[in-house]
Amino acid sequence: MPVIEALELSKTYTSGFRKHRNVHAVSNLSVSIESGQIFSLLGPNGAGKTTFIKILLSIVHPSQGSASILGCAVPNVKTRERVGYLPENHKYPGYFTGEQVVRFFGELSKVPKKILDERIPDLLHMVGLTEWRSMKVKKYSKGMLQRVGLAQALINDPDILFLDEPTDGVDPVGRKEIREVLKGLKYQGKTIFLNSHLLSEVEMISDQVAILDRGKLVRVGTVEELTAQGSSFEIAVEGSLPSTFIDEASAHVLKMCVRGQTISLQSSTTADLNATLDLLRKHGVLITSMTRVRRSLEDSFIDLLKQGAQH
Ligand SMILES: Nc1ncnc2c1ncn2[C@@H]1O[C@H](COP(=O)(O)OP(=O)(O)O)[C@@H](O)[C@H]1O
Ligand SMILES: [Mg+2]
Repeated sequence: MPVIEALELSKTYTSGFRKHRNVHAVSNLSVSIESGQIFSLLGPNGAGKTTFIKILLSIVHPSQGSASILGCAVPNVKTRERVGYLPENHKYPGYFTGEQVVRFFGELSKVPKKILDERIPDLLHMVGLTEWRSMKVKKYSKGMLQRVGLAQALINDPDILFLDEPTDGVDPVGRKEIREVLKGLKYQGKTIFLNSHLLSEVEMISDQVAILDRGKLVRVGTVEELTAQGSSFEIAVEGSLPSTFIDEASAHVLKMCVRGQTISLQSSTTADLNATLDLLRKHGVLITSMTRVRRSLEDSFIDLLKQGAQH
C-alpha cells in the first residue's frame, strides 16, 4: 500500500491583484510512494520540491488535487505525529546545545521524558554528534547542523521522514555519513522522502527518483530506468574505417564520435546498435571489444530538462 499518494496536485502562489505574478509552483503532480522506500524528488532550484513537501505536511494548501499520507487525506494534522521533517535552511536558537535542540523538539512532539532520556543519546550517536552534544549549536558547522536536524526529525520515531536538501552545504565526508544513516533508517523500515538538487548523491541510495522541472513531473522511475535510455557504447575496432562510415551510420545513432580505433556512440534501440555493428562488419572492420557506458543520473537529468525546455 502506498504511504504517500498525490493525485493531480497543483499549487499556484498568488500575489494579490498582480495576476501576471502568479507562480505555478506545482502543476498536476501525481506520485505514489510505497512503504520502506527511499524516494527522491530532484529538480533545479525553484522546481517546486519544497512546496510539494509542504503540501504533504499540511503547511501549504494545494490549489487543486488531493494527497494522502499513511492512508489519511491531506490536510491532516494528526498524521504529523507519524512523520519527521527536516526543513530546508532550518535555524535553531544558537544558545541551545545539540542535545537541547533534540530534546526541545521531542517535548514539542510530546514524547514522554523517559523515552527522550533513552532516545536522545541513541540518536546523537547515530548521527555522530555524541562528542559535541554539549556544544552550543551556534558553534556547529553546516554538516553538524544538518546532523542535529536529522536527529531532531527522528525524535518522535516517525514512519516517514521528509528531508529537504539534507546534504546541502555538507562536505563529502559528512554527506557519506548522512547517506549511511539514511540507509540504516531504510533498513529499519522507514520511508524516506528526500528533496535534493544533488544528483550524484541521490543516485547512490534512492529506490525511486522523480524529476521535477518548473512544477511539472518530467519522469519517475528507478535510477536504472532513468539512466537506461539512449544507451552509450564504446566499440574498439581493428582496421581502418571507410570515410563513408559516419554518414552511413548516422541513420542508426543519436551521437557518434570516432577517436583512433575507438568509436563512442549512443543509439536509442538495440536494433540500431546492431545495424551499426553490421555496417562495420560489412566494411570488413574487426570489432575487438564493446563496452556499455552507463550514463550518470546527471546526464539523464540534464537531457530531460533540455527536452522539457524545448516544449
Ligand atoms: N510562499 C511563496 N510565495 C510565493 N511564491 C513562492 C512561495 N514559496 C515558493 N514560491 C515560488 O514557487 C516556486 C517553487 O519554489 P520551491 O517549492 O521552494 O522550489 P524548490 O524547493 O524546488 O527550490 C519558486 O518559483 C518560488 O519562488
Ligand atoms: Mg527547496
